[in-house]
Amino acid sequence: MKIAVTAANGKLGSSIVNELIKAIGKEKVIGIVRTPEKASHLGIEVRKGDYNSREDFNSALKGVDSVLLISGMDDPQKRIQQHRNVIEAAKENGVKKIVYTSIIGDQEKTAFSPIVHSNRQTENDIKESGLNWVIGRNGIYIEPDLEYIDNYVKEGEIRNCAGEGKCGYTSREELGFAYTQMLLQEKHNGQTYNLVGKPITQSKLTELINQVFNTNLTYHSVSVEDYEKERKAELGDFIGTVITGIYNGIKLGVNDVHSDFEKAAGRPHKSTLEIMQAFKEK
Ligand SMILES: NC(=O)c1ccc[n+]([C@@H]2O[C@H](COP(=O)([O-])OP(=O)(O)OC[C@H]3O[C@@H](n4cnc5c(N)ncnc54)[C@H](OP(=O)(O)O)[C@@H]3O)[C@@H](O)[C@H]2O)c1
Repeated sequence: MKIAVTAANGKLGSSIVNELIKAIGKEKVIGIVRTPEKASHLGIEVRKGDYNSREDFNSALKGVDSVLLISGMDDPQKRIQQHRNVIEAAKENGVKKIVYTSIIGDQEKTAFSPIVHSNRQTENDIKESGLNWVIGRNGIYIEPDLEYIDNYVKEGEIRNCAGEGKCGYTSREELGFAYTQMLLQEKHNGQTYNLVGKPITQSKLTELINQVFNTNLTYHSVSVEDYEKERKAELGDFIGTVITGIYNGIKLGVNDVHSDFEKAAGRPHKSTLEIMQAFKEK
């Protein structure tokens, strides 16, 4: 049995590879990456695979039984064809199962919706592929917030437009564990899972950060319009718009969803507090 992970050198890809190695040994895991030089640290067989190249994936998926497709980072419209390059090559090479890392979100209501929409299109493409499939809809990673704490401290607050909306955060480690089970166990075939922890407000997030990291932050909610102006000025139009869309989605409740994590992973999702404590100890 060979299992391949695309974008394997990325943070989520590496986490899934590490969990797979623990479960089945490194001889059975293949990393497919755009830039092979960036993946030598994984300690597994590495093959080249740029999502823009169907040919790359025709070679990379030879002899592979299951593939984990990590959602790309490109413009949403480009992603659909990029993901199709992997799906079509998987079909042609006799891959038996495809597992896809999709995203929680609403397809219409926010500036993040085009990304959600493109992910839903890939979900449909996968369901129609004829392969066995499993789809995970990932919650928002908590790590970027924790990596940003020094900036929050400088600013004295956590400021965004999420208001009282609740968000089910997750972590790349939790996802790595869940996706490994989804790849290895047949009982997950044909399932779409929300991979999130317990939803919390931004005020609760701030309280937990204060508790774990000994900070004294407050949460400050601003309007969507003001937040968009601020984010665009700091991060540029594309990323600024996407980030605003994500927090607007939280405000509108689109990230306040039930969790299927335990069903997918076979154990409960760690609490946000536990994830923060583990992050601090690293
Ligand atoms: N749930 C969330 O909160 C959240 C947040 C951010 C992103 N995401 C999504 O989750 C995915 C994984 O996140 P991550 O944390 O692992 O991101 P990451 O660490 O930035 O890794 C992104 C990976 O995508 C690869 N990649 C980009 N364009 C590619 C292409 N054309 N062909 C092949 N590989 C390509 C990168 O390869 P190189 O190293 O060669 O660039 C890298 O391995 C992202 O791609 C994005 O779709 C989710």
